[in-house]
This record gives sequence, structure tokens and C-alpha cells, in this order.
Amino acid sequence: MRCQNLVCGLVLLLALGTSTVVQATKPEDTAATRAQGQVLFERTCLFCHGATGQGDGPAGWFLGRYASPRPRNFTAGSFKFRSTPSGDLPTDQDLFRTITKGIPGYMPSFASLSEAARWQIVAYVKSFYPGFRTETPVPLPLVGAPTPQLAESLDRGRALYTSFECHTCHGTEGRGDGPVTQAGELKDASGLQIQAADLTRPSSFKNGASLPDLVRTLLTGLDGTPMPSYAARLSDRETDAWDLAQYLRALSAESVP
Ligand code: HEC
Ligand code: HEC
Repeated sequence: MRCQNLVCGLVLLLALGTSTVVQATKPEDTAATRAQGQVLFERTCLFCHGATGQGDGPAGWFLGRYASPRPRNFTAGSFKFRSTPSGDLPTDQDLFRTITKGIPGYMPSFASLSEAARWQIVAYVKSFYPGFRTETPVPLPLVGAPTPQLAESLDRGRALYTSFECHTCHGTEGRGDGPVTQAGELKDASGLQIQAADLTRPSSFKNGASLPDLVRTLLTGLDGTPMPSYAARLSDRETDAWDLAQYLRALSAESVP
């Protein structure tokens, strides 16, 4: 589908927005579902994530050899892109979103697979880590509502960016070149060197670049990386997380279509 005008763009956006929330086709998590998921996984994911889900497929071994990230090791039970508190497992919806949208720069989108197929894969991915059978992940509440991008909101966002010391990793102008990053001190959980994200390039954000996506990243943190959760510190005022997200959007050097 190609979009050449605003209306078409909006329709496409709405279609994309709803396709990731509709759960009508979500099958029961049964042995049969997981078996169907396994067939799909071995065809589409094994190359990077490996047959045993440890991130050591033929390409996976090569991908994370010198620098983060390695394809995720599903048997470790640690996930970056969650709606849940730091340290918790992701919800089914979180896994479904990652598989649907892919990870810019690292993993393709699998939106071309049917929804049912993507849910079957979710069930199979979960089977690599026993914790999924006993824990029920609960999303953090998304408090408040988006603030308008007004000068006051941006000023408060800028002040939070400074007082939370985001610049030590991300740099004063958000280019991912803060002193800690420059010193090469940032490592992921497997000891591989990792870079702080370049905040002027939202198209590269792995966890999404919309305001709610940014708020989710700030509240949950990216487990297994030095990017912390700010859930506790952003709970003072309902608008804090949204003001900070607005400020991040203003750092963008990309033109918004
Ligand atoms: C081209 C290699 C590649 C393929 C193919 C691939 N992945 Fe990934 N995947 C990655 C990499 C690399 C990461 C880690 C990215 C990061 O940590 O920033 C990842 C991370 C993930 C994560 C972790 C998300 C999180 O919250 O931490 C899930 C789940 C996942 N992949 C599922 C899948 C599934 C399911 C398939 C097949 C449908 C698949 N991947 C195919 C490379 C791949
Ligand atoms: C200790 C270093 C560190 C600090 C402090 C830090 N970050 Fe990060 N941040 C990182 C790293 C490393 C990544 C990249 C993680 C990855 O690629 O998996 C990241 C990623 C991000 C991303 C991109 C997420 C995505 O979807 O790809 C955003 C947005 C972000 N940080 C915002 C912030 C803000 C705002 C603050 C302050 C409130 C902050 N960070 C503080 C290290 C840090």
C-alpha cells in the first residue's frame, strides 16, 4: 500500500495502530499452538536466535561478536521492550509488538505473517523460559496524558533531562556522545560494549518513537542495558514523563513527515 496524501497516511496509521491491539485471533497457549509456533520459528527466527533460542543461530553468532546487541537469548528471561516494571517479564502483547514491528537496524518486521502466526510464535518463544509459566506480567500504569508541545512543557522536560543526568550517557544535545559513552564504559548484561542511543535520530529507536512509546521506555528502562528505569523518579508529577518525552521529540534532527 502506497500513500500519497495525508488521508491515506492517516488510514494506514489507524490500520497499523489497530492491527497490533486486536487480539481476536490470539489462539489459546496449548501444545498444538506451540508446535505450530515452532515450525514458524525454525523457518523465520532460527537463523539469528538459534534452535534452542539462545541467540546463537548462524547469523546470531556473527552479529553480536564484537558489540551489543547479540540476538536475544530467550532462555535468560531478560527483555528490553516491555510495558512492565524493570526486572519483570514482558506481556504477550509486548512480544507480539516486537515481532510485528521488528527492531530498527537489527531485526526485520514480521508484520507480513498473519496475526495468528505471530501469536503462535509468541507462545513458542515463551516456552524457552519456564518463568513464563508461573509469572503473570502486569503493565505499569501509563499515568497522565500527553502534554501539548508548548514552551513550558519543553522547559520542564529540559530541566528533567539535566537533573536526571541523561546527558552523561546521551550527551547535552542528545547525540549519544555523553562522557560515559565516549569513555567506552557502557556494557550490556553480557559484557559487550554498548552505545547510548542517538536521541536526535528517533527513526532508530528500538522501542518506538511516539510519545506513549517514549514514556514506556522511560518508565520501564531497557533491561540488560545501562538504560535505567525512571518509574520511581517520574512519579512526582503526572506530567513529568510526558514533558520529558516532549523534550526528547524536540531533540530530533529528523524532519517529521
Ligand atoms: C536478522 C536477525 C534476526 C532475526 C531473523 C530475528 N531476530 Fe529477534 N532479535 C535480533 C536481535 C539482534 C535482537 C536484539 C536487539 C537488541 O537487543 O537491541 C533481537 C531481539 C528479539 C527479541 C527480544 C525483545 C526484547 O524485548 O528484548 C524477541 C522477542 C525476538 N527478537 C523475537 C524474534 C522472533 C520471534 C523472530 C522470528 C519471527 C526473530 N526475532 C527474528 C535479531 C533477529
Ligand atoms: C547510564 C547510561 C544511561 C543513562 C543515564 C540514560 N540512558 Fe538512555 N540509553 C542508554 C543506552 C545504553 C541505550 C541504548 C540501549 C540499547 O540500544 O539497547 C539508551 C537508550 C535510550 C533511548 C532509546 C530507546 C530505544 O527505543 O531505542 C531513549 C529514548 C533514552 N535512552 C532516553 C534516556 C533519557 C531521557 C534518560 C534520562 C532520563 C536516559 N536515557 C538516561 C544509556 C543511558
